[in-house]
Amino acid sequence: MKANPCNSILGWLLFLYSLSPCLSYNRLPYFLNYYFDQYILIYENASVGSSITKLWARDPDNDTLVFGVVGEEASKYFAVESETGVVWLRQTLDREEISELQVEFSVSDKQSVIKGIVNIQVGDVNDNPPVFHNQPYSVRIPENTPTGTPIFIVNATDRDQGTGGSVLYSFQPPSRFFSIDGARGVVTVQRPLDYETTRAYQLQVNGTDQDKDHPLSTLANLAITITDIQDMDPIFVNLPYSTNIYENSPPVSSSFLYISSIVVDIWKCMLDEDHFD
Ligand SMILES: *[C@@H]1O[C@H](CO)[C@@H](O)[C@H](O)[C@H]1NC(C)=O
Ligand SMILES: *[C@@H]1O[C@H](CO)[C@@H](O)[C@H](O)[C@H]1NC(C)=O
Ligand SMILES: *[C@@H]1O[C@H](CO)[C@@H](O)[C@H](O)[C@H]1NC(C)=O
Ligand SMILES: *[C@@H]1O[C@H](CO)[C@@H](O)[C@H](O)[C@H]1NC(C)=O
Repeated sequence: MKANPCNSILGWLLFLYSLSPCLSYNRLPYFLNYYFDQYILIYENASVGSSITKLWARDPDNDTLVFGVVGEEASKYFAVESETGVVWLRQTLDREEISELQVEFSVSDKQSVIKGIVNIQVGDVNDNPPVFHNQPYSVRIPENTPTGTPIFIVNATDRDQGTGGSVLYSFQPPSRFFSIDGARGVVTVQRPLDYETTRAYQLQVNGTDQDKDHPLSTLANLAITITDIQDMDPIFVNLPYSTNIYENSPPVSSSFLYISSIVVDIWKCMLDEDHFD
C-alpha cells in the first residue's frame, strides 16, 4: 500500500507536538530598570562600598535569576550581588578623569544569559581647588607707572564644572597700591608709586572658586619690583659753596675742596633697607 505523503507530514507534526511538554522551551528573562534605555547619574563623591542601584528583571517562566556585571573594566568599579541584583561601588569615581562609563550587566535564568548596557554618568562635585599657571609671578615696573595701568595678569583654572570651576581673584590682604580684577586676574596700579619709599611689594593672590557650599581656594605670590626713575633734582651737600672761595682764602695747593654732589636717589639707595608693603 502506497503511503499518503500528506498523512506522513501531519503524523510528524503531531508527533513533535506530543513531545513539546518534554522539550519545555525556555523563555528569556529581561531587565525592568528604566535606565537601560537612559542613564544612571552617580556623583563622583559616592563612597566605595555604597550601593548604587538594584537590578530588576522578570522571567516569564519564574526561573530563579542570577545577576552579574560583565567585563574586567566594569568589574573594577562595580560589584553585583548575584541573587538580589544590588550594585555596589568598588572604586572611587573621579569625573575629572572619567565622566562617563558604559557598563554591561547580565541576568541569567541558568539556561540563557541576557546582557544590557547602562550608561553611567559621573556627576560633578566641587573637589578641585584652582591651580595657578606659569608661576612664579614677578614683574618690574618703573616708579612713574601711572595709576590705572595694568601691569600683570595672573591665571588660575579649576577643573570642576559650573560655579565650582569658576575662579575669582583677590589680594589677601588687600593692597593699597594695587588692585586685581576679580574675574580676569588683571593687576592694576592703584596709586602713585615711589621708589624712594617702597621698592618692592610682595602680594598674595587668592584664587577661589565660587561653589556656594564648599568653595576651594589657592594662594599665589606676586612680587612687584619698582625700578628707579631719576625723579629728583641733584642736591649738593656741604653747602654753601661759592665761586669766590679762592678769593677769600689763600690759595691752598695742599688742601682739597670737595664739592660733593650726590644724587639723592643713589644716596638713599645705600642707606635704605628693602621695604615690603
Ligand atoms: C557629595 O556631594 C554632595 C554635593 O556637594 C553632598 O551633598 C553629599 O553629601 C556628598 N556625599 C558624600 C558621600 O560625601
Ligand atoms: C509566575 O509567577 C506568577 C506570580 O508569582 C504567576 O502569576 C504566574 O502564573 C507564574 N508563571 C508561570 C509560568 O509559572
Ligand atoms: C590660563 O591658562 C590655561 C591653561 O594653561 C589656558 O588654557 C588659558 O587660556 C589661560 N587663560 C588666560 C586668560 O591666559
Ligand atoms: C580666599 O578667599 C575666600 C573668599 O573670600 C576665603 O573664603 C578663603 O578662605 C581664602 N583662601 C585662603 C587660603 O585664605
